[in-house]
Amino acid sequence: MSTTSDDPPGPPDGPVWTGEHLLGLEDLSAGEITAILDQAAEFKRLSLENNKKLDLLDGVVVANLFFEPSTRTRTSFSLAAKRLSADTIDFTSSGSSLSKGETFIDTARNIEAMGATLVVVRHRSPGAPHQLARRINAAVLNAGDGTHEHPTQALLDLFTIREKRGSLEGLTVTLVGDILHSRVARSNIWGLKKLGARVIVCGPSTLIPPRIEELGVEVAHRLDDVLGETDCVNLLRIQFERQRGAFFPSIREYTHFYGMNSERLKAARPDVMILAPGPINRGIELTQEVADGPHSVILDQVTNGLAVRMACLYLLHRSRAAGGSG
Ligand code: CP
Repeated sequence: MSTTSDDPPGPPDGPVWTGEHLLGLEDLSAGEITAILDQAAEFKRLSLENNKKLDLLDGVVVANLFFEPSTRTRTSFSLAAKRLSADTIDFTSSGSSLSKGETFIDTARNIEAMGATLVVVRHRSPGAPHQLARRINAAVLNAGDGTHEHPTQALLDLFTIREKRGSLEGLTVTLVGDILHSRVARSNIWGLKKLGARVIVCGPSTLIPPRIEELGVEVAHRLDDVLGETDCVNLLRIQFERQRGAFFPSIREYTHFYGMNSERLKAARPDVMILAPGPINRGIELTQEVADGPHSVILDQVTNGLAVRMACLYLLHRSRAAGGSG
């Protein structure tokens, strides 16, 4: 693959994002989210047009620090950085000096000392990226912090819906399942509401956080009650690893009330979009036929994640280089 600098770096007009870090969608305005999505659309267009690397981050070091397992986010950020010609450091906690007692912050500071100016971090503790942003000079991108936020996942969800439907304005998006433990749900709620969508959260009462209506969402406890009015269903994974007890009687019962299957698809809108952040539990949140069927955009989400992460890395770098305000 060759490198080119002939292509324009992004849309010439429209809203801009001049952030110092990307910690969550709660912090961004509708215009800033739109600026990231527009830049991602431009990167996607460029990579479909010609498969060349861009030299926009030539000489920049991007560190991917993953203190929690990941497949999609880690590889997507790493490839996004490489597509922009950055040098990458891919750190995972297993096999690292964390086992010798080195702290999370010291690990990041040592990697920053190797020249990283963009630091992507995933950590099981909510607020870990915010803490890091206060302790290092590099720009920090949150790749998922505990149950708090997962901004690039929500951005790629928004991108995928906008790409298919033209706009988020007026669409009804239903987030199904484990809302209580889901950073994806929280980031989606912020992003979807800011871009004008109606948001329904649907799940057993034990998996819906108290007072979630204060975020401007509606609550449903039966998927069948809201399916007919839903444009996009986002099936969240049951986060067994975060649950500290029994939140529903059995997986079988959960699947009976909240699992997306062929029968439920028949009751849904003919053009309903099925999203899932992944990893998916086939046979629990959705059946095989739905996951691999024509309504599913699950792999489109993964494809779009690359363009979205390229946009986030590039815009943050550009903002920093220009002395961005954050
Ligand atoms: N959706 C998502 O964050 O997947 P990974 O945990 O594999 O990164």
